[in-house]
Amino acid sequence: MVKLVRNETMLAAPHRLLRAFENPESIEAMVDRGAPYKTITAVQKNPANDNTPGWFRNFWALGGKVIFDGAEEAFYNPVFIEAAQQSFCAKVIKPLAMMTNLNVPAPSSPPHLDLPFFRGVHQREIPSWMLAPMGYSSLFHEWAIPIASAITWFYRGSDGQFEYWPQGLDEPSQTVAPPVTNTAVLADNEYMYHRVGEMGNETDYLKNGIDSAALLHRRKDGWEIMHAEEPIQFFPSSQIRVSILWKAFCFKTQYDADSFEDPSYNLTPETVIEIFCNDLKKKGVTFREPFDINDDVEWMKVVLENYAAPDGPAY
Ligand SMILES: [Fe+2]
Repeated sequence: MVKLVRNETMLAAPHRLLRAFENPESIEAMVDRGAPYKTITAVQKNPANDNTPGWFRNFWALGGKVIFDGAEEAFYNPVFIEAAQQSFCAKVIKPLAMMTNLNVPAPSSPPHLDLPFFRGVHQREIPSWMLAPMGYSSLFHEWAIPIASAITWFYRGSDGQFEYWPQGLDEPSQTVAPPVTNTAVLADNEYMYHRVGEMGNETDYLKNGIDSAALLHRRKDGWEIMHAEEPIQFFPSSQIRVSILWKAFCFKTQYDADSFEDPSYNLTPETVIEIFCNDLKKKGVTFREPFDINDDVEWMKVVLENYAAPDGPAY
């Protein structure tokens, strides 16, 4: 089996879907059922802190398997599968992950790439904080697996448009209209810089970051952030932006799928460390090799500082 490598540039321009789910009411009911939600920091198992943004998440599917009751239909949504086939010129589409994000009113996020997927290390073999710097470093491109991302919004607030840089950050950006409930954008978000515009009014922003152990609870007419039984802030439903993210591997042919899934080309955690260490040495960075990739905070800082998004935190 020949080792195939995906293109280094965007594989598919963003494609807007005007009716993402056939039955949006059942999707919104599942979003409610997922409460209470953990913060993004807690979900990604990053070190705990008391300055986490108002961004909450849970998973409906991971590693190609549905893990949330009732999410099968959404995970194998034919609208996403057909759009991915057309946009990525791919015959074989393998749904991989699905998650819900809930965001409180906030300023625009920095341009970023989504967490990439690499042969051999996309099933929690390495800590998830390491994936973003792997993507930004460009050191692991030959292991990247082509993937489509479909983001569907359920949002009745103002703004929050999707902005993207099809030719890279040095060239002008383009904008997709503000999100409308049950519309989606399907794109190559691991290789195309993008961001979400400012959402809601500044007066509704969280005054301070929240504790990463905080939870977002469903209430009768909205959502409430609680920490250790203490109410932090309540938001009416119209202010919370729900986005449902679907990810699927996209292979041109079955031959491509077999090549990308051939384990003889897999990365291992040891190789990942070795590649980072060699590059850090080349850059002249003073550092110590990690003693444990899961718990070595010093190593995490070195990697995140040296391989960050150009304009902000590497989420
Ligand atoms: Fe993103």
